[in-house]
Amino acid sequence: MAIDVLLGLQWGDEGKGKIVDVLTKGYDIIARFQGGPNAGHTLEFEGIKHVLHTIPSGVFHTNAINLVGNGVVIDPVIFLKELETLEKIDPTARQRILISRRAHLILPTHRLLDAASEASKGKNKIGSTLKGIGPTYMDKTGRNGIRVGDIELPYFTDKYNQLVAKHKQLLNNYNYDYTHLPQLEEEWMEAIERFKKLQLIDSEHYLHRELKAGKCILAEGAQGSMLDIDFGTYPFVTSSNTTASGACNGLGIPPTKIRKVIGIFKAYATRVGSGPFPTELHDETGELIRQHGKEYGSTTGRPRRCGWLDLPALKYAIEINGVTEMMMMKADVLSIFDTIKVATHYKYKGEKIDYLPYQPDEQFLKPVYVELPGWKTDITKLTDYKDAPKELKQYVEFIEQQTGVKITIVSVGPDRAQTLRL
Ligand code: GDP
Ligand code: IMO
Ligand code: MG
Repeated sequence: MAIDVLLGLQWGDEGKGKIVDVLTKGYDIIARFQGGPNAGHTLEFEGIKHVLHTIPSGVFHTNAINLVGNGVVIDPVIFLKELETLEKIDPTARQRILISRRAHLILPTHRLLDAASEASKGKNKIGSTLKGIGPTYMDKTGRNGIRVGDIELPYFTDKYNQLVAKHKQLLNNYNYDYTHLPQLEEEWMEAIERFKKLQLIDSEHYLHRELKAGKCILAEGAQGSMLDIDFGTYPFVTSSNTTASGACNGLGIPPTKIRKVIGIFKAYATRVGSGPFPTELHDETGELIRQHGKEYGSTTGRPRRCGWLDLPALKYAIEINGVTEMMMMKADVLSIFDTIKVATHYKYKGEKIDYLPYQPDEQFLKPVYVELPGWKTDITKLTDYKDAPKELKQYVEFIEQQTGVKITIVSVGPDRAQTLRL
């Protein structure tokens, strides 16, 4: 019996989907605990690429149940499209998917409110994925939200109409045109009817039962620690706790039951959307990383901002999460460089510091780098870490020594098979 948590240590898109898929064989249940279809988790195997948004990344293995936990926000239209795509590959997929009745629903008006809010912010916009995440979590904490369990109750339509009336007032305040809402509502209500037929459960009871029966659970995080609502680069964050404690709230599991906290990070750094990014490269090197790493958003297709690895930010994420081991992704992308930079400190208001300050804005903060030798050789075909170039091993050891945390996997390509265990 064990619960392990796997989460991103940077600004999302670290490669969580790939690693969950790689690790699923060792677990009975894979459970998403927060976020919603703002996530895009990519898996590649047998030459095919799959992008999952709400369904956990264990779904391609028949040994595991995939649970969408209470902390997740669900858009039934997106969910069903995703499920139907999966069913073309594996018609039995839905038998392995469970959904918490306590998860909140994203309404069409939540998406419109997201768009209206972003438009009103002008150049200060968050860069939201516009999936309605912020407004849905606002209704959750404002105690107005509609939960999955509500769709089974007789007062569901009344509740829906009441909330939508409130949303329309807000949209009027924004002067936002919602004349196409009836179309969106029709599609949403039709999806709700089909969604009702899925396996909706009281997931906290289910998980405790399974734990008592000795099952192993992997909690799959979405987004990244630097996008956490409390500890990320606020307000340029998402609206949930992406850090380890989010797994407790988002699944109903006690912190005392957590065994490992597995932190995933890219060998460099990326960010999509607005907000501080201390090691961002605005030059040719940044562009090289983007091209070589195919750094375009899995959900929105937007080009990701790219830069070198940021150790102060990584160490901050390790502390907040209590990371017990790390996995380094996309090492192959750095194979093109003669030397590789890593930020170990910042120059902040004239001082050299080794921590992430309250306001890590570019105007106050400049990264201080060390330069390490590159390996300049194709590592995508490696099957054993023992055969890795010594410069790659040096890079790994440097990060371990700086952070005090062991790296247990180095990923050298997007495919399931391109995974080296240390
Ligand atoms: P997630 O949101 O954390 O699951 O990550 P994404 O799927 O959004 O983004 C990671 C991207 O990198 C995807 O396109 C993956 O297929 C790809 N990827 C994952 N691991 C590796 C790797 O080791 N090397 C390369 N080149 N690509 C990788
Ligand atoms: P995965 O799980 C990267 C970013 C958005 C925006 C901010 C707020 O694939 O790693 P939101 O839609 O949540 O209101 O957007 O957070 N963002 C992500 N960036 N990966 C993600 O998920 C993200 N989910 C949200 O770009 O800056
Ligand atoms: Mg992603």
